[in-house]
Amino acid sequence: MVSRAAIGVFDSGLGGLSVVRQLRHDLPNERVLYFGDSANAPYGRKTPEQVRELSFGIVERFVRQGVKAVVIACNTATSAAVDALREAYDIPIIGMEPALKPACDRGHGTAQRIIVAATPLTLHEPKFKRLMTRFSDQHTIFSQPCPDLVEILEHGQLEDRDRVMRTLHGYLDQYDLDAIDSVVLGCTHFPFFRSYFRELLPETTAIIDGNAGTVRHLQVVLESLGKLAPEDATGSAELHNSDPSERVAALERSLLER
Ligand code: SIN
Repeated sequence: MVSRAAIGVFDSGLGGLSVVRQLRHDLPNERVLYFGDSANAPYGRKTPEQVRELSFGIVERFVRQGVKAVVIACNTATSAAVDALREAYDIPIIGMEPALKPACDRGHGTAQRIIVAATPLTLHEPKFKRLMTRFSDQHTIFSQPCPDLVEILEHGQLEDRDRVMRTLHGYLDQYDLDAIDSVVLGCTHFPFFRSYFRELLPETTAIIDGNAGTVRHLQVVLESLGKLAPEDATGSAELHNSDPSERVAALERSLLER
């Protein structure tokens, strides 16, 4: 069995496009409906209740459009809303999770020192606390909120090298980076800053995001339900945003093509 229905993907704004890129690459036959909530970004500074309400509004819209699955391409919205959404809807709802396990696995049993970069809300939600509990006995894990990176991307300032580097130094200078094994990018906005992180980190420090793992999980779920797109289908990505300005539309296109 196959399904030509679209996959709904949403984020607080533009960061989820890093997941759409991965999805288009790994599942090129799928049709993606993307919704960025830039008018309400950033979610990372909101309350869990506010994020849940916004997430429900977006998923309701996807359901009316007949999607076969939803990907919450936003770590913050996943932390605040994934459980409630799964209870409310029958379709598969795939969330993001900071890729702490792959970072720990890199050590093949030896203790790792890992920085998890995410939004304040992601790091304070019980979902992340549970993840920490699983791994912090064996490994040293530092939680680092990086909210300004979200705003830099949303404001179209990704190319402002001075601003980005100043911001990253502000977050990372407190660590002995030579002793850090991995930095986990626990927010879908952050993969767009990968080359800046790379400049600051020693070559031996891995930079890990959860995008490929999330798309793999989506693939497994759709496969098990017989709902992958047929091989002759032409995939696409249709972009929508709560901020209807041409500025945001142009930013979306440039990030997707990056
Ligand atoms: C934010 O809106 O603050 C960032 C969303 C994310 O965690 O991916």
